[in-house]
Amino acid sequence: MPLEGKNNPAENPAPQIARLQVLQWFEELKQKHPEFEWIGIYRRDPSNPNELVVFCFIGPPTPHTRIPIDSGICGAAVCEAQSINVPNVQEDSRYLACSLSTKSELVIPIRDTNGEIIAELDIDCSKKNGFSPKIQKELENFVLQIENLKALFD
Ligand code: SME
Repeated sequence: MPLEGKNNPAENPAPQIARLQVLQWFEELKQKHPEFEWIGIYRRDPSNPNELVVFCFIGPPTPHTRIPIDSGICGAAVCEAQSINVPNVQEDSRYLACSLSTKSELVIPIRDTNGEIIAELDIDCSKKNGFSPKIQKELENFVLQIENLKALFD
């Protein structure tokens, strides 16, 4: 059955354009930080907010396309409603491995205009301690930029 109304990219291209914009920003981030080996967004499944679903990313495919919010660093960032910076993934029992080369990870919640967490930015880094306080702050500002793309999750 053909997609109708706002879910049809031909009728409403805004979400696709917003997603392409985000992927371009990810590529620019990767150029600035080649040690970032996976940069992506997980979205809370609108029909089941207790699960995260991979939304868009650059880097190798992840086995974790769907993550319950009671699992992983990704789930913890939703439950704790804050950024989670893991300097050494091998020392964090919550960590769900995506790639053997990942050494550190940062997850930052993405909120809607009501402050509800609707998604998150997830970055895997090939170096331990990949996210200094300064880099974390820059990435939290980057998330504000993503939050301003209102059509992204339409
Ligand atoms: N490491 C994440 C899983 C997602 S992959 O890194 C892309 C976690 O522990 O939740």
